[in-house]
Amino acid sequence: MTYDEIPGWFDFSGAYDEIAQLVLPGEKIVEVGPYLGRSTVYLATKLRELEKWATIYAIDLFDGYDPFQGSFYDQLLQNLSQCKVLGMVVPIKMDSQKAAGLFKDGELAAVWLDSDKSYKHVQESLISWHRKVKKGGILGGFGLSEPEVERAVEEFTSALKLRLEVRQEGTWQSWIIPR
Ligand SMILES: C[S@@+](CC[C@H](N)C(=O)[O-])C[C@H]1O[C@@H](n2cnc3c(N)ncnc32)[C@H](O)[C@@H]1O
Repeated sequence: MTYDEIPGWFDFSGAYDEIAQLVLPGEKIVEVGPYLGRSTVYLATKLRELEKWATIYAIDLFDGYDPFQGSFYDQLLQNLSQCKVLGMVVPIKMDSQKAAGLFKDGELAAVWLDSDKSYKHVQESLISWHRKVKKGGILGGFGLSEPEVERAVEEFTSALKLRLEVRQEGTWQSWIIPR
């Protein structure tokens, strides 16, 4: 089984290629919002191809996201296992902000946000996750074309005078804040 057989929404393979190139073997990556693992499996497979045995922490509420009424944690595990990347991914059933507390400042090579696209959630996630990324790492996320995401990301980068890079893939935009 390969990533493209997993249902989901994944329009940032170019950005994930960049992350896979940047990460060093043994480093830690966080993905917030793996859903059923389409994007997660893509990244893990890339890392495996490059023989970089990094760990991906896949953080999600795993509960009630369309079309699932209940938990989809077991479905994610099954997909990771069938794609032979279970050993590279640590799924964590937790809210994004709370999960940030599990990591030390500067501990992560990259953090990718693909969860709730509301202004408040993106703003809080930026504050929680930015300092967890090491110097030379990447904080990024999907959905810059969504006005609430754009506002949160632009406010955050202008307030802290950070560089904001945009990645266009088809009609979709992702944002990247190099650390
Ligand atoms: C658009 S889907 C992600 C799609 C996925 N990256 C893919 O490849 O198909 C958004 C995910 O974010 C999760 N999510 C929403 N709010 C969250 C929160 N506060 N903390 C963690 N995950 C959250 C949802 O449960 C859902 O699985």
